[in-house]
Amino acid sequence: MIRAIHHFPQGFLWGTATSSHQVEGNNTNNDWWAWEQEAGRIHHGQRSGLACDWWGGRWREDLDRAADDGQSAHRLSIEWSRVEPSPAVWDEDALDQYRQIIRGALDRGLMPMVTLHHFTNPAWVAEQGGWLNPEIVPRFERYVRKVVSSLEDLVGLWVTINEPNVYVVFSFLTGHFPPGEKSMGGTVSAARNMVRAHAAAYHAIHEIQSGALVGLAHHYRGMAPHRAKNPLDRWAARIRSKTFNDLFPRAFTDGRFRFLSRREFIPQAARTQDFIGLNYYSTERVVFDPRKPAELFGRSFYRDDADLSPTGFVANEPTGMWAALRWARKSKLPIYITENGIEDDADRIRPRYLAKHVRQVWRAANFNWQVKGYFHWSLIDNFEWERGWTQRWGLCALDPTTQERKRRPSADLYREICNANGISSEMVARYAPEVLEEMFPGPGSPELKAENS
Ligand code: FCB
Repeated sequence: MIRAIHHFPQGFLWGTATSSHQVEGNNTNNDWWAWEQEAGRIHHGQRSGLACDWWGGRWREDLDRAADDGQSAHRLSIEWSRVEPSPAVWDEDALDQYRQIIRGALDRGLMPMVTLHHFTNPAWVAEQGGWLNPEIVPRFERYVRKVVSSLEDLVGLWVTINEPNVYVVFSFLTGHFPPGEKSMGGTVSAARNMVRAHAAAYHAIHEIQSGALVGLAHHYRGMAPHRAKNPLDRWAARIRSKTFNDLFPRAFTDGRFRFLSRREFIPQAARTQDFIGLNYYSTERVVFDPRKPAELFGRSFYRDDADLSPTGFVANEPTGMWAALRWARKSKLPIYITENGIEDDADRIRPRYLAKHVRQVWRAANFNWQVKGYFHWSLIDNFEWERGWTQRWGLCALDPTTQERKRRPSADLYREICNANGISSEMVARYAPEVLEEMFPGPGSPELKAENS
């Protein structure tokens, strides 16, 4: 049987991504734990609790599964509140535990990519003003220095901050994340402190470990004008995208921080990425709305015929992955897809979402763009922030009460992709037959008919 296959370059990394608070359990000493105890913060009052019980040791079985499934990398994060439970007090046992986990990943053939800040802050940091207090910059740098000097023999790929744009918007503008502020001024200050903190961390890491590769995980949200030819919709989509998607990458390219009317040159931030980490999930439509100045004169929604995840949170828009890659490529830096995935408990959409997004990554890799790896979000269902356990993002399902794990069909598809270092028509025929014709057009396809006529 003839099979077409989209092959990836040799050495391409295939992995999954997780974050400390979402998988470890009993992270009692950070701002998220406190937030979860407050009424009305998390859907249905759910809590992270034991999460996936990684701190209790279940990281072993989950990383076993990742390795058995042919993965070659894993992205995980360090919990600042465990390493530095109070100012400048270091918990060496916690650092040892991270050594074991990372060593465990390496022993299983999984290259670790380590994130230093993934949404959570130690309780003491939050009490002292968190990301609104400029003191966060030396504090973050001190913590980063400690972690990197302790783990540099094991880790060569560092992500300083996960999704600073999502973090500042959710924590300081919409109030979905702690500290739950709703202020544009706060959003700008936190963003500025994040730029300075990343820059400090970047230089500190290179000072300790000159050969390290350091970057961030940027959240790129596709934003297309609702009416493609309408100048106002186009303007609203562009200004929103520039503000949300470009603010941080621009500052880390030329040191220029431009957030609405705020302009500042932060020279130490220029050229502080060795790679671009790209988190891509979805693309929305933007319509101009003069009644929404605070939202940059736009409203956004998914298109009417979108292929939506069960809670409507993600629309399956693979061409947005292509747009994201084109956007990332402008930096001329190597690119890692640091997150991509969909919430889908029943695994109804995930196989086609995965197949079609991997295909877009393949297109870029085969144009010889420097795309180095793909990390699916996520290895296993985990605590999904303010949406608690109502969304299931894992290749493996988890029952957080019994800790029982169960593979979803997508785990099998991803295993085949990893093992083949590519995706074939035959895999798509078995796991996502509904998109086979679109991905591998047969003789009857409209595309080929048009070419033949
Ligand atoms: C990203 C976050 C990650 C997870 C996924 C679904 O924005 O980085 O922690 O919540 O979304």
